[in-house]
Order: sequence, then structure tokens, then C-alpha cells
Amino acid sequence: MTQTVTIALSKGRILDETLPLLAEAGVEPVDDIARSRKLVFPTTRPDVRLLVIRATDVPTYVQYGGADLGVTGKDVLMEHGAEGLYEPLDLKIACCRLMTAGRKDEQTPEGRVRVATKFVNLARQYYARQGRQVDVIKLYGAMELAPILGLADEIVDIVDTGNTLRANGLEPRELICHISSRLVVNRTAMKTKHRVLQPIIDDLGAAVARRQVPA
Ligand code: ATP
Ligand code: PRP
Repeated sequence: MTQTVTIALSKGRILDETLPLLAEAGVEPVDDIARSRKLVFPTTRPDVRLLVIRATDVPTYVQYGGADLGVTGKDVLMEHGAEGLYEPLDLKIACCRLMTAGRKDEQTPEGRVRVATKFVNLARQYYARQGRQVDVIKLYGAMELAPILGLADEIVDIVDTGNTLRANGLEPRELICHISSRLVVNRTAMKTKHRVLQPIIDDLGAAVARRQVPA
């Protein structure tokens, strides 16, 4: 009996970098995802379909078996927690850093720090490890505004070039961790669909490895 495989992809920047890797692994959407309002896409492999959803929803879909495989950022995975998921592969795409940041040329205040972020769990864990007391304010975007408007002393956010921080009068402070996108697998599917999932994981791994070899 043919087993079907559902792969949950993060829309946006991760999707742009995931599709070429998937193509190298022999999985290509039949439709032009960028031009479609569909959420489920058949592929050149009749047994494989793609879901295109928000990065933050990918761990949930894979954890509950709505998808067998998923691609999302390590930041999203750490914030969500690893329950029900294997993480067999670092895809080495959408690379960036999770950092603290604050107003330029200002010291972090002594004592209790107010931190605005969408990564509330990660922020709590990080400041606790530093032995610093923290009030975390949950935001869903534009974190850079919070220190400027006096909402927070610091933010915890993604930094790549640092341009967004600079453009908003902020500076990076401490590196929390390096981030890249990961392949995750539903733990049950890894057993029940091992025969179809393992070759896809291996082919994606080989595609990632080929990119690491200098031309
Ligand atoms: P959502 O709207 O679902 O909250 P988002 O706006 O955070 O998602 P993106 O900005 O596309 O979505 O970011 C998705 C992932 O890409 C992040 O979780 C992170 O892993 C990575 N990422 C974010 N910003 C950058 C960046 N500037 N450079 C490289 N990778 C990034
Ligand atoms: C991401 C992230 C930062 C920015 C960092 O935002 O949330 O704001 O990139 O990148 P930089 O250091 O190169 O400036 P994105 O551009 O994805 O917009 P978003 O706020 O809509 O997620």
C-alpha cells in the first residue's frame, strides 16, 4: 500500500530557501506556490504533498500528525518545545542569530529588566540562566519599537545584518544562540512511515551536504 507523506513548510523567507533543497531531493510543487491562494500543494511525487503555513504553526502541525515532516526555524522550535518531534537535520538555511538588544550607547539597567519579545519562553530561560530578574512583555512583531517608546529596556529578537536594529536606534548586546532552519519529523510517523520518510530525509541531507562543499 502506498503511504502518503505530508510536509509542512514555513511561508516567507524559509520557503524561498527550502524549495530548491526539496527540488534537489526530488520533490517539486506542481503549482507556482507564490501565485496561489491554496494551502495544500501536490508535487511531482504523487505520494508527497506540501502544506504552506506560518513558521510558528509548523511544530504544532507536525507534533499532532497533521504533517509528517516540517521545516521551520530553530528559534520557533526552541520556543515551542520538542514534544512529539525529532529534529534529524540542520538545513543550514535562513541563518541568523537570536540576540538581546537595547537603545544605542545605553547600559542595561541594574536589577529587574523589562524585555519585549515574541520569544517569551526563550527570553525567560535566557535571563534566568544569567541570574537576572525579568518582566517579559509579549509582542507579535516590530519589537524594535518597544525600547524606543519606553515599553521595555531590552528586546530579544532575530538579528542578521543588524540593519533593522541600527535603523531604529538600537544596538545588539548579547548573543543567545545561532539560528538556522531545521527538518522536524513526527515521532510516530518516523516509525510507521519509516520506509518512505527515511529516503526523503537522506536526500535532503545529501542536498545540504553538497552545498557545504566549496565550488
Ligand atoms: P510569522 O509572521 O509567522 O511570525 P515571521 O514574520 O517571523 O513569521 P519570517 O520573518 O519569514 O517570518 O521569519 C521566519 C524565520 O526565518 C524565523 O523564525 C527565523 O528562523 C528566520 N529569520 C527571520 N529573520 C531572518 C533574517 N533577517 N535573516 C535570516 N533568517 C531570518
Ligand atoms: C526579521 C527580524 C528582524 C530582522 C533582522 O524581520 O524579525 O526584524 O529580520 O534582520 P536584519 O538584522 O538583517 O535587519 P523580517 O525582515 O523578516 O520582517 P518581519 O518583522 O516582518 O518578520
